[in-house]
Amino acid sequence: MNEYKTILVTGGAGFIGSNFVKYMLENHPQTKIVNLDLLTYAGNLENLNDIEENENYVFVKGDIRDKELVKNLFDEYDFDAVVNFAAESHVDRSIEEPEIFLTTNILGTQNLLDNAKAHWQIGTDNEGYPIYRDNVRFHQVSTDEVYGALGKEGMFTEETPLSPNSPYSASKASADMISRAYNNTFKLPVTITRCSNNYGPYQFPEKLIPLMIGNVLELKDLPIYGDGMQIRDWLHVKDHCSGIDTVLHHGKDGEVYNIGGNNEKANIEIVDLIIENTKKDLEENTYEGIDTNPDDITEDLKIHVKDRLGHDKRYAIDNTKITSELGWSPSYTFEDGIVETINWYLENQDWLDNVRSGDYQAYYENMYSKK
Ligand SMILES: NC(=O)c1ccc[n+]([C@@H]2O[C@H](COP(=O)([O-])OP(=O)(O)OC[C@H]3O[C@@H](n4cnc5c(N)ncnc54)[C@H](O)[C@@H]3O)[C@@H](O)[C@H]2O)c1
Repeated sequence: MNEYKTILVTGGAGFIGSNFVKYMLENHPQTKIVNLDLLTYAGNLENLNDIEENENYVFVKGDIRDKELVKNLFDEYDFDAVVNFAAESHVDRSIEEPEIFLTTNILGTQNLLDNAKAHWQIGTDNEGYPIYRDNVRFHQVSTDEVYGALGKEGMFTEETPLSPNSPYSASKASADMISRAYNNTFKLPVTITRCSNNYGPYQFPEKLIPLMIGNVLELKDLPIYGDGMQIRDWLHVKDHCSGIDTVLHHGKDGEVYNIGGNNEKANIEIVDLIIENTKKDLEENTYEGIDTNPDDITEDLKIHVKDRLGHDKRYAIDNTKITSELGWSPSYTFEDGIVETINWYLENQDWLDNVRSGDYQAYYENMYSKK
């Protein structure tokens, strides 16, 4: 395995990116990480407080679409790998405001690809293809949503045709396609991973799991889209990080790898597990700043709200390729992961309160209209 000297991680102040930066600093202490993040509403430097002083870590505030900035960063740090997490990531927001999803997720990715290509090229072969220096890689972090939706049966494999249904997933599918094209046309060493829904520490509370935990603690309504029977395949964020690490170091150029946690659950089941386990945790432990009476946490908090437009019914990931070819497997069961995750949010109330302040509250009130 080749260790990378310096990796550009984009979107490293977001949920998965911040977990990944820490994972890499811990597991690859010889690698320097430069985190480029625009700090949109979803980026939060508080996620990275504990590594601020790490000498192998640099934070740069900036936009992946900024051509001059990205070129200057390549010149200054001489990256030998890029892991691109930076994106607009919330489906609901993409329905309200598609344009920024297209510019960030597609054109931002293209700008990173262009700069990687220009910086790593050392010559041209007889046929006119670029030749790159050894041990370089561009890794694109994608989603199972690019495959569209499943019926009751079947799973997404890497061969499943792309059929994205939301502006978000269409922008991610486009980024996959442009990454693939740079591999095919310019032979740029590119890998892509497509993963299922992530959960774990530091997730922005507009997403299902932290949203519900936060609301349970405040005894607020738990808004469930439609009948709540939409099925997702849940992956603990630490398993996602180890999957990306595996592909980054052992994957083959030009290949796509699915990363899934083998945890299919309906949204309503998730809400029930959160009610049950938050109540249990609060019965057994006390936390500074939390005075919610566990007896008040009941199923009655659940309310059904209008379903999301074009809501995909079911996602399920077949992860045979990464498990059999690269030896990766998930380490969390959902039942253990959700207990640990609830406990993290209870212990990190300040983090949740800070993130929920600002314009989040207004956005949230507007988003969930009762049926
Ligand atoms: N969360 C999931 O369940 C999930 C599942 C599959 C794939 N993904 C993909 O993983 C990646 C990370 O997801 P996440 O949930 O951590 O997202 P997130 O919204 O929590 O974080 C995105 C980060 O990107 C930054 N960013 C946005 N626009 C930028 C720009 N123009 N330039 C630089 N930085 C910018 C934001 O400030 C933020 O820190 C995304 O590409 C997403 O599509 C997420």
